[in-house]
Amino acid sequence: MAQLIDGKQLSTQVLQEVASEVELLRAEYGIVPTLAVVLVGEDPASQVYVRNKVKRAEEAGVCSIAHRLDAECTQDALNQLIDVLNNDSQVHGILVQLPLPSHLDEEEVIAAINPVKDVDGFHPLNVGALAAGRASLVPCTPQGCMIMLRQVHSDLSGKNAVVVGRSNIVGKPMAALLLQADCTVTIAHSRTKNIESLCRNADIVVAAAGRAELINADWIKPGATVIDVGINAIDLDGKRKLMGDVAFESVARIAGAITPVPGGVGPMTIACLLLNTTRAARRQLA
Ligand code: GUN
Repeated sequence: MAQLIDGKQLSTQVLQEVASEVELLRAEYGIVPTLAVVLVGEDPASQVYVRNKVKRAEEAGVCSIAHRLDAECTQDALNQLIDVLNNDSQVHGILVQLPLPSHLDEEEVIAAINPVKDVDGFHPLNVGALAAGRASLVPCTPQGCMIMLRQVHSDLSGKNAVVVGRSNIVGKPMAALLLQADCTVTIAHSRTKNIESLCRNADIVVAAAGRAELINADWIKPGATVIDVGINAIDLDGKRKLMGDVAFESVARIAGAITPVPGGVGPMTIACLLLNTTRAARRQLA
């Protein structure tokens, strides 16, 4: 059976690092790293994510302030809130929970965030910095995946890595981080031909396609490391179940190491968000 990469446990280590940095910033500079979380509308999944982020922040000593706007809010109102948060020196990090209701322009909102407060790493300046190998604030989920990979691989150089999925939030920044770590990187997606054989040739597979149990044991090279970013809520016999993009039971028999869902990438994402908040706070000291 594959080694289990325990995201819950690993995230507590990252959160301890965050807590120590919070304490340093308080003792040396008298500041409390503060994260503003903006939630527009009532998307149930987003509400759960935001609640979890606020709870973990509290535990690590990061101050979090949730701003809830109703689903009909205008682009102007949202931009104005971003403007207020940009200009508030007590706020070090700004996160706008995605997706936004369809009448709002996500790109415009992300571009409006002050890049030094962009703890999601989604602002074009931060995206460009990462692509150019000068990463500043790095998207949280891929950052968490890299910490998990380094638990298994002390040296990633020369590894064949396949990222399944090409989203701006996960797939693309994940590929950039793997490339920065000297992996040979392939991005596979819904139009990719021979996706199975591409994956079967990989030392590392990062599954971020958003399709429940897309990847089964036939896709995996014996001993490969499999990181499952998927969180798919599926109705099974009238019960809601969280499923990854990886068929865990079968793949765990083939892989060398694997992350579970839940308890894998999810907790790491939140821990990295808080890490980014302390980093952003420190950078704003000068
Ligand atoms: N929605 C799903 N994942 C994310 C994320 O990492 N950041 C934000 N802001 N919204 C999300």
